[in-house]
Amino acid sequence: MCGIIGYIGVKKATPILIDGLLKLEYRGYDSSGISTIEKDCISIMKDTGRVKNLYNLDGINNLNGNIGIAHTRWATHGKPSKENSHPHLDNNNNFSVVHNGIIENYTELRDFLIRNGYTFYSQTDTEVIPNLIDYYYKKETIDDKYRILRALQKTCNDLKGSFAIQVISKFMPDNLIVIRKDSPIVIGKGDNENYVSSDIPAIVSYTKEFYFLNNYELALLSRDNIEFYDINLNSIVKQVNVVDLDADSADKNGFSHYMLKEIFEQPSAIRKTIGSRLSANDSCNFEELNFTKEFLSSINKIYIVACGTAMHAGLTGKVAIEQLCNIPVTVDIASEFRYRNPIIDKNTLCIYISQSGETADTIAALKLSKSKGATTLAISNVIESSITREADYSIYTHAGAEIAVASTKAYTSQVILLNILALYFAEILESISSLETMKLKEEILALPQKVEETLQCTNLVEKYSKEICHEKDIFFLGRGIDYTTALEGSLKLKEISYIHSDAYAAGELKHGPIALIEDNVTVVGIITDESLVEKTISNIQEVVTRGAKTCIITNQSLNNIDFNQVISVPKTCTLLSPIVSIIPLQLLAYYISNEKGLDVDKPRNLAKSVTVE
Ligand code: G6P
Repeated sequence: MCGIIGYIGVKKATPILIDGLLKLEYRGYDSSGISTIEKDCISIMKDTGRVKNLYNLDGINNLNGNIGIAHTRWATHGKPSKENSHPHLDNNNNFSVVHNGIIENYTELRDFLIRNGYTFYSQTDTEVIPNLIDYYYKKETIDDKYRILRALQKTCNDLKGSFAIQVISKFMPDNLIVIRKDSPIVIGKGDNENYVSSDIPAIVSYTKEFYFLNNYELALLSRDNIEFYDINLNSIVKQVNVVDLDADSADKNGFSHYMLKEIFEQPSAIRKTIGSRLSANDSCNFEELNFTKEFLSSINKIYIVACGTAMHAGLTGKVAIEQLCNIPVTVDIASEFRYRNPIIDKNTLCIYISQSGETADTIAALKLSKSKGATTLAISNVIESSITREADYSIYTHAGAEIAVASTKAYTSQVILLNILALYFAEILESISSLETMKLKEEILALPQKVEETLQCTNLVEKYSKEICHEKDIFFLGRGIDYTTALEGSLKLKEISYIHSDAYAAGELKHGPIALIEDNVTVVGIITDESLVEKTISNIQEVVTRGAKTCIITNQSLNNIDFNQVISVPKTCTLLSPIVSIIPLQLLAYYISNEKGLDVDKPRNLAKSVTVE
């Protein structure tokens, strides 16, 4: 969703701002803009469409300022249009603002400002912010360095909702100001220059040193200094964090799309997720958790809560935790969980999974369970993301930056981390035998190699994708753990190929979906759970009888049966099989989308990081 970039230094700001916006494109957006300080006046250039269009705007090359703010907008209030794009100015052109988040009480604030003589030119919630700053600035009687900060402080005290805000002003032509509440923003410390961004990967090529703001903390940036304040404008000291993220992670490295690169990064991402948490001979190691047998024995119910692909990873986690630890697990969609009054008490453990760590519904669900007394554990790929700051405990997948909107390596890393977590619980609870533990560890450690082997199906999948890329509907079937893969495979396909697809538990077929099966409909079956092979095959036979074309992803020898396409994956234990069986389905979605000439990495209407409800 919306992305923010800021620069203050000695270089020309415009190319750095546009470069940063290009790196944030993956979040999803419909318009973009930049604002710089030019010889004591503020310039603004903005438009709808792609960030690269900014290069074509009249006068953009004449901007020489060394301080600027920039934004990619994903429309919430008001359609995508030049007027609604950020940055927004106040009526007197004194303050330029970019904002990520939602101002819930903007109508009320807008009415107040209109009553006080302000005019609005956009339909956005954001436009109240520069005007409120201007309103409060004028009311200030003392004209010192803190005048703008006091105006911003009063403005933020009026705002309800979430915000990450950057402000530049002609009254403070050597500064850039940042404040946040519940929306992500990081500050990168450079040498005689400083950066601001919605996420680390967009600016990691400039610096490895970052500051993270807590809610209602404010940063006043100059070229060679950053001052931090709380909302009462008391000065605060913040520690710099060195983040060792590879700058390459934000590049395509020769692949035609980020998605394909990220699919191929899975063996190394999984290695990093396993890291030092698991080895053949030692107990699983989660230093961040240090859970005791007494604590885990007191847990009588676990909720796993997430959205989209992360929720599908949660479904695999349920199977692992229930099987290895014998604790009942419910998996919930965050947007449902937060409004359904779930039964939670101090004996409940709530696990929240979010690649970005910024998904608004997941964060709200986490806050709800915390307020009801549950212990909360966040699983994220992004260090210091909001969800990890909010939860009692956090563990990271360490899959590296994921740029493509359709999640691939983050998913497989989440699945593996959930399995290691379940094993860690099981070791503490002594709920499985040492032989079972040893076998599962061996299987986990063999996974990177098995994923590499699985990737050898790429050419076959590419060829097959040409056969089915013009389908209107595709169905995915599976049982048990394979049903979770069917759900994720179907989501991947619809997200980026725009083909309608649905996933069903194979046993449910007879209860409705089979009515949709007719001649030449494509059905993808996933068959990896040995104990369910025959059952699933008989369901697939039922669709074949009704004229369906079938593609089977399997680790079994199904030689005697006539399927249209079989894609073999290596054998692993059932709990881990989603990690290998999802790979052909990720590739299938990718090649179909590519074949159709679609924007694989930035599918229409979708955002990587859904920071609003
Ligand atoms: C969006 C993305 C999905 C992602 C979901 C949850 O819908 O397009 O790829 O799975 O959000 O995101 P999260 O960052 O919380 O894992």
